[in-house]
Amino acid sequence: MTSLQDPPTNGAVEFASRDEISSLQLDRLRWSLQHAYDNVPHYQASFDAAGVHPSDLKSLEDLAKFPFTTKGDLRRNYPFGMFAVPHEHVSRIHASSGTTGQPTVVGYTKRDLDNWADLVARSLRAAGVRSGDKVHVAYGYGLFTGGLGAHYGAERLGATVIPMSGGMTERQIQLIEDFKPDAIMVTPSYMLTIIDAMISKGIDPSATSLRTGVFGAEPWTEQMRTEIEQQLGMDAVDIYGLSEIMGPGVAQECVETKDGLHIWEDHFYPEIIDPVTGMVLPDGEEGELVFTSLTKEALPIIRYRTRDLTRLLPGTARTMRRMQKVTGRTDDMIILRGVNLFPTQIEELILTVPALAPQFQCILDRPGRMDRLTVRVEARPGASSDEMLRAAADLRELIKNRIGVTVLVDPVEPGNLERSIGKARRIIDNRTAR
Ligand code: DLL
Repeated sequence: MTSLQDPPTNGAVEFASRDEISSLQLDRLRWSLQHAYDNVPHYQASFDAAGVHPSDLKSLEDLAKFPFTTKGDLRRNYPFGMFAVPHEHVSRIHASSGTTGQPTVVGYTKRDLDNWADLVARSLRAAGVRSGDKVHVAYGYGLFTGGLGAHYGAERLGATVIPMSGGMTERQIQLIEDFKPDAIMVTPSYMLTIIDAMISKGIDPSATSLRTGVFGAEPWTEQMRTEIEQQLGMDAVDIYGLSEIMGPGVAQECVETKDGLHIWEDHFYPEIIDPVTGMVLPDGEEGELVFTSLTKEALPIIRYRTRDLTRLLPGTARTMRRMQKVTGRTDDMIILRGVNLFPTQIEELILTVPALAPQFQCILDRPGRMDRLTVRVEARPGASSDEMLRAAADLRELIKNRIGVTVLVDPVEPGNLERSIGKARRIIDNRTAR
């Protein structure tokens, strides 16, 4: 039977010097590669096929010799084939929603769960949340990592957790009014849904007790940060993570700088690659984020291609490197008549037009031989039909000038678009012949 070999213990942390961080990473990377190779047939086969062995890792840069892991690898090994420990050591399972295919299943040992709670507690502290604060968790509970990940981290910090989960918007509002939480953890798009519902009930969102919002699980822009901060009179900071790597708390923005997310590099080793060639890019260049877990026991993951686009930046409020806010996923990139664009670029522009609300959808179709993009966007409450039409024309112009494509803009009355209760669905692809 496989024995649980201990990963090196947690020594250096958020303020360690770069040298200390690199040396800890190298030790842990060696352990992680060996652990994966010894206990997961997939890694043994893929390393062997690439002609590499864990002992070939002499420096952090040597990691580039090892093969990537993709979502496809996890799917092919569904459900538990990528686990590196026998099931009696697995304390919890989570799974991705599987909207784009078979769900991917992830597992955690007791120690993995302990590390996860520590990292979410660390993230919350960086966000400005303190022990004794009340934290309203509106990420979904269940197989999604958002709810339970946030929950145990907030408990670990010493906060009072309100485990509300997603949905039941009226109830969310009632509990925010009655329990007076200091912080909320929720997707930014669901936060907007809650704000809209408050306004329609005659509640002033800026008068709530909320001081901090920890928003993630989907891309959101600086313009959206300003919108949410102004509406709620709070600090809005970004939290990043993905199930395959752990869940929320892989990286976190610090409230004092709000300048991108510090990656908790003592547990995850980041690389940026060119998504086409797979070559590692230097810090500062934009590409696809790739992660290698350094301490995970149940599901070690080597060079996982996240499909998220960002760049690595030096540390500021912490010594650990930052990742810029995620622009989008390679899968969410719209290629319209040769121009690449992301829904976040549309969001940025919508928020510069005063009569438009940040509720929008990008609808793709192909009426003739050419793809067409229609941006369906809600007007702000109180906008007249003239203002709506003018705003639509303004947005069309902005998109043409800034992004370089012609789109249709379809302005709709407030409340006409489907509201998000978790991750917003921004792209609706009605093209049939692909
Ligand atoms: O969304 C984990 C999470 C929960 C993160 C709550 C933050 C808060 P998955 O469902 O596996 O896990 O989805 C992971 O969501 O690859 C990104 O594309 C996207 N994502 C997550 N956080 C952010 C963020 C959770 N802060 C996928 N900004 C990732 C942009 C994000 N995209």
